[in-house]
Amino acid sequence: MRAWSTRQLHAKAEKSKRIGFVPTMGFLHSGHLALVTRAKKENDAVVVSIFVNPTQFGPTEDFNAYPRNLKKDLALLKKEKVDAVFVPSATAMYPDGVKSTINAGPESKPLEGQFRKGHFDGVCTVVVKLFDAVRPTTAYFGQKDFQQTRVVEEMVARRKMPVKIVVCPTVREADGLAKSSRNVYLSPVERAIAPVLHQTLLLVKKDLLAGEPVGKVEATAFGVLALTGFNVQYFSVCDAKTLKPLRSFKASKGKRVVVAVAAYLGKTRLIDNSLFSL
Ligand code: PAF
Repeated sequence: MRAWSTRQLHAKAEKSKRIGFVPTMGFLHSGHLALVTRAKKENDAVVVSIFVNPTQFGPTEDFNAYPRNLKKDLALLKKEKVDAVFVPSATAMYPDGVKSTINAGPESKPLEGQFRKGHFDGVCTVVVKLFDAVRPTTAYFGQKDFQQTRVVEEMVARRKMPVKIVVCPTVREADGLAKSSRNVYLSPVERAIAPVLHQTLLLVKKDLLAGEPVGKVEATAFGVLALTGFNVQYFSVCDAKTLKPLRSFKASKGKRVVVAVAAYLGKTRLIDNSLFSL
């Protein structure tokens, strides 16, 4: 992978190419393909990686069950005419097992960090390895994993990595459910309930913009989701930069906020968020 990228970056006859990179764990859907489309628009060559990264899954999480379909993914990417697909093995990525991991920064600690210990250390570790191999000019991530985008942005800034991070809007089903590879786990009944997550985020945005107190809005949303059948892990109005909880609407006027939620529907864990300025 690195040899291929080096050839693109140091092409003698022509000007050096801009490499757009879309890192994925495969089982591609239109959310991933929107990242590819954006990358194609802004670069000379596009690389997509497919690697289900073991180090970002906890011991009781769904690493083994995580949906995989490499044949279908490769067919989709061929249709998109991407320039290279990087599908490393676990031993290529972790030749010495996992001896050292990167510590994700403070943005990794709240929200997901409370429930998925070590998750973002695993994400940062694999992203650094993927960037080392692909040497992208720009890397594209989806806003659905908003905390991941903040953690990666800060890691890249702290390490002064020469990569631009672009965050693209969440792609949704017609009924508002955010596209996710994990949506295949939902039973038909759960699938019918799932859009309530997005609907609740929209209502919360409306209430916050109307000046409702943050605590009250969060508690109501928590209650609505619980009554609908969700097992909510967190529903939190946060500063979109630090991801620290916002307590007062007045003190936060003009701030960019993210309302982030993680909830189980049956055995499926869903996350979503809404990003706006107060
Ligand atoms: O968002 C994902 O699919 C993964 O966390 C990533 C960025 C590919 C790292 O494994």
